[in-house]
Amino acid sequence: MKVFTMISWVAIVCNPVNALINARLSMSLKPHDAPLQAIPVQTVSLESLENHEDEGSYMAESIRKWLDDEWIPQDVHIKMAESAKKSYIACRESGQDDVMDILMAISNDLESNWQEYDADSFVNAWDIGNYASDYLINRSGNEGCECSAKIY
Ligand SMILES: *[C@@H]1O[C@H](CO)[C@@H](O)[C@H](O)[C@H]1NC(C)=O
Repeated sequence: MKVFTMISWVAIVCNPVNALINARLSMSLKPHDAPLQAIPVQTVSLESLENHEDEGSYMAESIRKWLDDEWIPQDVHIKMAESAKKSYIACRESGQDDVMDILMAISNDLESNWQEYDADSFVNAWDIGNYASDYLINRSGNEGCECSAKIY
């Protein structure tokens, strides 16, 4: 599958250790819950976003608002948003500025601790990665984004 190959390649660039796990994971996905198909294949640089700590906080706040608004306010939304913020900052501090790499990192990091969120979350790790990428594309001022209906 073409999309799968692209995603694996990007994952290898972003995080070689998780790439293998992720490749195995996506092979085990049933078509019904294949979140990888929802991932936009596009390259958007976040070079224009310079303060990683602040941008990470803004993004976390947006993720929390999105989840609280779509579902109900919950502590797990804050925890998942914090995880995404950490992933964002780690990626940016290690020199990654492609939104796709950051999407992968956010989703992989959430997924590797999913037992902490599973009981309360209405969404999965990939929904959050996708929202974060939409948010970041919007935040970077890029208008070519097939964004979620609403960015918070
Ligand atoms: C970002 O999202 C807001 C709210 O959805 C929208 O009004 C704005 O036009 C978007 N900006 C870009 C550059 O797409």
